[in-house]
Amino acid sequence: MRPGSTHPTTRAQRDSGGRTHADVAVVGGGIIGLVTAWQAARRGLDTTVVDPAPGGGAARVAAGMLAAVTELHYGEEALLALNLASAARYPDFAAELEEASGQDIGYRSCGTLSVALDADDRAHLRELHALQGRCGLESQWLTGRDCRRLEPMLSPSVRGGLRVDGDHQADPRRLATALLLACERAGVTFRRAAALRLTVTGGRAAGVTLDDGTTVEAGQTVLATGSWASRLEGVPPELLPPVRPVKGQVVRLRMPQTTAYGPFLSRTVRAIVRGGNIYLVPRANGELVIGATSEEMGWDTTVTAGGVYELLRDAHELTPGLTELPLTETTAGLRPASPDNAPLLGPTALPDLHLAAGHYRNGVLLTPVTGDAMGELLATGELPEQVRPFTPRRFGGSVPEAAGVLSGSEPQERSA
Ligand code: GLY
Repeated sequence: MRPGSTHPTTRAQRDSGGRTHADVAVVGGGIIGLVTAWQAARRGLDTTVVDPAPGGGAARVAAGMLAAVTELHYGEEALLALNLASAARYPDFAAELEEASGQDIGYRSCGTLSVALDADDRAHLRELHALQGRCGLESQWLTGRDCRRLEPMLSPSVRGGLRVDGDHQADPRRLATALLLACERAGVTFRRAAALRLTVTGGRAAGVTLDDGTTVEAGQTVLATGSWASRLEGVPPELLPPVRPVKGQVVRLRMPQTTAYGPFLSRTVRAIVRGGNIYLVPRANGELVIGATSEEMGWDTTVTAGGVYELLRDAHELTPGLTELPLTETTAGLRPASPDNAPLLGPTALPDLHLAAGHYRNGVLLTPVTGDAMGELLATGELPEQVRPFTPRRFGGSVPEAAGVLSGSEPQERSA
């Protein structure tokens, strides 16, 4: 039982009335919901995950770059600190999860090369290099020839690049599978149905009603449904998180075991190609993931001819040899974007309702710190210092009197 909670510790079991009782209900079984559930269960909390298809979500599409440095954007300096903390946590997190699940998550410390194709692209990359320098990050400027020495399959048109040896990769599908297994082994209960409505009792979140007519009653409820977090009925409208979907289309190819020059690609390659961004993520198992479009299209996940064309066109300009590779998959997923591109982590103004959503481009990267922070919050009521700048309270939102919210369980304030 969480310190200060008014709710007794219960086993996550279903009674004859179709009610599951748990300490914690995690709504959403993507990697963010699963890591939250795993870390809660590891801390002794009876935890139930509500999701019709746990292990799905954006991780089925994501490339899995751990790109704190090469994906740095202006105005995201606060997020950078969290991204770096999670990147630093990854080796231990991977080892702990692999131990707990018996499943390799494809963590690969291969580094990243960011390259530019034309003079404008190079100027853009120089700007990024300067920003990285101002932020104290390590990256090394390379000539086009140096880039090709590292990655011989790159086109002779490459004009220059940045070598970042600290940006790695994990395989999001393996990560999701490992988290599922770790949850199961830690005793997490899965309710394979969709959450219809948050239950609010006595001014506190008390679980969810499911679309199969059953309920999960819980001492604490975590909303971890990615871009759908803004849509759950029963959440006071003021507290619905400002999370929106940003569509990304991704193409998968199969690389040969080797080429005349060695591996097809030996590290993640990102590129600016005539103003557009693209990345190629080579996995140890031969898969090459090419992404991604960035489209404000609501919840649409259609794979379009135009999206695939643009990806393959730019990837071909970057690495002409890839036209020979088998095309194995095209997919589209939804990044859960927030107004400041950073996640919403921690308590809401409705007691016992927490958020773990809005991870946007960094869901795989931020999985370790999200799990640590949410586990700590659920077990102790305290949010670790490093995630306090990212509570949902930074976007305002208080619960009106009419919602009957009682005092107590005061949410953490933003500290920066
Ligand atoms: N972080 C990669 C993407 O958002 O496409």
